[in-house]
Amino acid sequence: MIRRSIVVGCGCYLPQRVVTNEELARSIDTSDEWVRKRTGIVERRIADENEKTSDLAINAAKEAIKTAGLSVNDIDLIVLATATPDETFPATATRVQEGLGMTKGAAFDVQAVCTGFIYALNIADNFIRVGQAETVMVIGAETFSRILDWDDRTTSVLFGDGAGAIIIQGLEQSSDKNLRGILSNHLHSDGRHHDFLYVDGGPSSTKTVGHLRMEGREVFRHAIKNMASVLEEALEANNLSPEDIDWLVPHQANKRIIDGTAQKLKLAPEKVIVTVDRHANTSAASIPLALGTALNDGLIKEQDIVVLEAMGGGFTWGASLIRW
Ligand code: COA
Repeated sequence: MIRRSIVVGCGCYLPQRVVTNEELARSIDTSDEWVRKRTGIVERRIADENEKTSDLAINAAKEAIKTAGLSVNDIDLIVLATATPDETFPATATRVQEGLGMTKGAAFDVQAVCTGFIYALNIADNFIRVGQAETVMVIGAETFSRILDWDDRTTSVLFGDGAGAIIIQGLEQSSDKNLRGILSNHLHSDGRHHDFLYVDGGPSSTKTVGHLRMEGREVFRHAIKNMASVLEEALEANNLSPEDIDWLVPHQANKRIIDGTAQKLKLAPEKVIVTVDRHANTSAASIPLALGTALNDGLIKEQDIVVLEAMGGGFTWGASLIRW
């Protein structure tokens, strides 16, 4: 028997408050036209002052449990990807555990910024493959609004808040033909690129929370290169070619990066899930939010080849290839 992790539930949560480009243009020197043209972003959601990353995550997790038809007692493990935890410690995942009323199992956070969801999914998948867990909740949740320098027009227009969650479960299958589930994961990082995208604060360096700092052009250049190469790596590992992809669910940072990556692999635009226009860049939450949107729209069918991929600060980048 071959054991693979299959996705059995998905939930999304976005804060109520919609902030349009026009609204931002009232306080900084920007315009709806500039932001749309350079990024594809039209609006983003911003969390209330009292709404924490864990609150967003709990809402998404509850919906994922509901769509999976499971109860909270079925969850063995929560792996939560975030770069904006509620507190320095404990892990935001344990706040989510408490919020769900889950008293058994384990919960921890993963930090790989915008690639966080792929890292978390890879870890969760490994727990299932080796039989250490049966059912795992994987969450990406962020409140990037708290670490933005709202006076910096080069970064403040790009990000939003939100959370997405999926539940994966082990499935024993007798044949490796048309095997369902997560078929492979591919993770990379290169710490030499720290200065292109980082937060200038933290408990061990400045004792402050800090603000996001970015060399946008450098990040852009590396993003298309890294996302295209990890996508090729995932296809090659499974003896597949770009035409075999039914759905590409990329990290949602910039429509031009998404289009550039798809063009490099000659992927048809209608196979690419795009939500950056509505959500902006929600870092670790962007992939599960895009996936949830595609599932709610009824796009993804059993046996479809779905590739998730991301790139973020570090740099980190990675991909997961799933036969649904
Ligand atoms: N509104 C209006 N003008 C802006 C602006 C804004 N919000 N932000 C920057 N500009 C200006 C710049 O000051 C510059 O003006 P100048 O030519 O007079 O110097 C001009 O627009 C062009 O700036 P540039 O940085 O070259 O634009 P760009 O085409 O590279 O687009 C980004 C900027 C940030 C949208 C783009 O580089 C990008 O998306 N990078 C990747 C960011 C990302 O995805 N990060 C997260 C990865 S996980």
